[in-house]
Amino acid sequence: MEAAPFWRNQCRSHSERNRRLQDRPSRASRAADRIRHDQAKPGHRLDRPSGRVSLLIPKARSAATTSRRSTFLRHDEDPTMSEPQREPYLLRREPYYCPVGNEIDVFEAAHAVRMPVMLKGPTGCGKSRFVAHMAWRLGKPLITVACHEDMTASDLVGRFLIDRDGTRWQDGPLTLAARLGALCYLDEVVEARQDTTVVIHPLTDHRRVLPLDKKGEVVEAHPDFQLVISYNPGYQSLTKDLKTSTRQRFGGMVFGYPPAAIEAEIVRHESGVSLVLAERLVQMAERSRNLKGHGLDEGISTRLLVYAGQLITQGVSPLEACRMALVRPLTDDPDMLDTLDAALTTLFGSPP
Ligand SMILES: Nc1ncnc2c1ncn2[C@@H]1O[C@H](COP(=O)(O)OP(=O)(O)OP(=O)(O)O)[C@@H](O)[C@H]1O
Ligand SMILES: [Mg+2]
Repeated sequence: MEAAPFWRNQCRSHSERNRRLQDRPSRASRAADRIRHDQAKPGHRLDRPSGRVSLLIPKARSAATTSRRSTFLRHDEDPTMSEPQREPYLLRREPYYCPVGNEIDVFEAAHAVRMPVMLKGPTGCGKSRFVAHMAWRLGKPLITVACHEDMTASDLVGRFLIDRDGTRWQDGPLTLAARLGALCYLDEVVEARQDTTVVIHPLTDHRRVLPLDKKGEVVEAHPDFQLVISYNPGYQSLTKDLKTSTRQRFGGMVFGYPPAAIEAEIVRHESGVSLVLAERLVQMAERSRNLKGHGLDEGISTRLLVYAGQLITQGVSPLEACRMALVRPLTDDPDMLDTLDAALTTLFGSPP
């Protein structure tokens, strides 16, 4: 039987692991040469052209050894990239997801070639749930980042921290995902500034690397790594949009609210209301969606329908539950509120 890789063997001491790592210069040098060859483009920083690869394990890593020198690590040569590190990001239970079309097959095909994927669709239509389901289905860790306009490149990539032992590097979520081979999900990516989102460029083309300029390291993405972004088209201002060069690094999947029968089944499953009641909730959502562009920015989402159903299963009357979960959050316009309340009374005025 073939021996397990030495870094998996928990019994070995760090010093022994260090010694064995230092005994492997030839493979490491080849890796460095290959990466350097791939990366030798104008503007790419190589601090140490002589290019010896440093393989570091956590105990050996210190500010002195890591701060100002280029370190080229391959996922399969870095012993820190072990299963226990992926563990916290693996989903233990299947996130319920009811497919609407062939989106599962399409995503699996995109994952097979590690194509970066963008999911577009209105709020509360199932984008995040889909990503969680796919991570579970593919058995891959999932690292999610909620993007916002104050987010900096360092928030994604990582930064040096000062603690009582000195300076230490802390990977950001994008770096961690690239090292671990996770699905990295940047939710509401258009909220981030364009100068922040460009850090994903080298990871989302043929290079699949992430340069950590401050650390002087180029991380080569783990073969399993895949980037997924999502946003709600139409909600953002003109100043908040993706650069063309960012857009054209992704395959796109468009999500919408599910057809009525599927949406009712989702609401029934998620909230525990009867199918009859779930169907009536969906009818209310459809009426509101017809008002999109006629006083409403967006109709009632599947998420809000689930909220209404959950209130009903808690004993709140359907009319009251719908007022609270479906109508009040939608708008502050008094006329529109009256219109929606009237629709509610038509549908829920009498007990279902
Ligand atoms: N196809 C689906 N299968 C199962 N649940 C769904 C589906 N679509 C929507 N849902 C339900 O709707 C809720 C909202 O979905 P989700 O959070 O994925 O929306 P989203 O598209 O990510 O919204 P946002 O853009 O606001 O983040 C989920 O918690 C889930 O209960
Ligand atoms: Mg979401």
